[in-house]
Amino acid sequence: MADMMWAGRFSKQVDAGVNAFNSSIAFDGRMYRHDIQGSIAHATMLGECGIITKEDSLEIIGGLNEILADIDSGKLELDPNAEDIHMFVEAELTKRLGDVGKRLHTSRSRNDQVAVDLRLYLRDEIAEVEALVKELIETIVKIAKEHTETIMPGYTHLQRAQPITLAHHLMAYVWMLLRDMERLQDTVKRMNYCPLGSGALAGTTYKTNRQLTSDLLGFTAPMPNSLDGVSDRDYCVELCCAFSLLMTHLSRFSEEIILWCSWEFKFVELDDAFATGSSIMPQKKNPDVTELIRGKTGRVNGDLVTLLTMMKGLPLAYNKDMQEDKEAIFDALDNVKLCVKTFTPMLATMRVLKDNMRNAAARGFINATDCADYLVKKGMPFRDAYKITGTLVAQCIEKGVTLETLPLDDYKAMTDLFDEDVYNAISLDTCVRERKSEGGPSPEEVVKQIALAEEKIASL
Ligand code: ARG
Repeated sequence: MADMMWAGRFSKQVDAGVNAFNSSIAFDGRMYRHDIQGSIAHATMLGECGIITKEDSLEIIGGLNEILADIDSGKLELDPNAEDIHMFVEAELTKRLGDVGKRLHTSRSRNDQVAVDLRLYLRDEIAEVEALVKELIETIVKIAKEHTETIMPGYTHLQRAQPITLAHHLMAYVWMLLRDMERLQDTVKRMNYCPLGSGALAGTTYKTNRQLTSDLLGFTAPMPNSLDGVSDRDYCVELCCAFSLLMTHLSRFSEEIILWCSWEFKFVELDDAFATGSSIMPQKKNPDVTELIRGKTGRVNGDLVTLLTMMKGLPLAYNKDMQEDKEAIFDALDNVKLCVKTFTPMLATMRVLKDNMRNAAARGFINATDCADYLVKKGMPFRDAYKITGTLVAQCIEKGVTLETLPLDDYKAMTDLFDEDVYNAISLDTCVRERKSEGGPSPEEVVKQIALAEEKIASL
């Protein structure tokens, strides 16, 4: 095993088991680009401030760019025995440049590095997640536009409740996802401060220029406190929280699709490319994608709990426990990306079985509220109208008919306020069309909220 970078203080090589236990390169290696980006900014600042010579600074930057190109091209492989990505890049630089390479780490620490790398890495990744979620939102809006007149039952307690349209239902998810987008953007806003220059915890005696490194790396400003700089992982928790909520929304949507695919509902049919079969039951077509998304939501919630629990007892400033942040946040990130990437095309290719939706809406007395409202509009107090309608529903159940097919005489037997026009008032189309309160399911209202959502999407 090669000498560790910190070997001076020690009289023995580190135990192989401990080295493997301690090493994080297997999972922090993915931040190599951002590690090099941070080092280039640091080397630039050292040169500008005269802490190292301009020539050394330029040589270091050249060396770092070469290392970057070599890792990108596969010419240079990450050494699994290295302690972490920061040590690996620095050791490689020194291998290539000799003493000049050894000057890079002047006035900074790995605590600095890991804090800056993770922020840079996550900032890029969040942009990718945002693009994926935006595509999902646009896909849902597109489907919603085609279904402003597609009547389906709306549910509470999973019992048919009142009539809505598929567009109305889908748009509910659009608003959830738009809030998810805002949460991601918000996380970036608070995350985008530069820890670099915090040193190990207590800054440095060199006359550094933290504003310069912050500007070079595109941060809003340097973090004002060096202890906080190296020990803050709020942004990981916040991001994971945003991921958890995003997954919660995907999971609820998935659960509905799972129900809708069942023979009991049969509201939709998944494209063959997005469903799977059974090894034994030839008739099966399973919604595995949605089930996996529902399952992975638990996993992402687990990552959030990992982060919160890992941080809760840590004294300031850096502690090695914090190395555990990366596997948790990367796991959440990878799974969120995977889920959104798979969910969008699955949704885009899903077939809507309009007639089944409408038939389901026609059963289950979901126009009962409208029947009561009919009486209210003729002057009866709502509570009385509610009671009469309840009695009528019970009669229908007994006779095996619906409110639409119950004879007028039965209505009239309850109150003279009922007339022939009751049938129009309780027809599904009327029930939906007349629900035009703001945010309601009437096609007119849903078209309005689609326009509102599109405005919001354009401003993202
Ligand atoms: N691999 C470490 C991490 O992920 C980097 C920082 C290590 N700092 C230290 N003093 N051991 O957190």
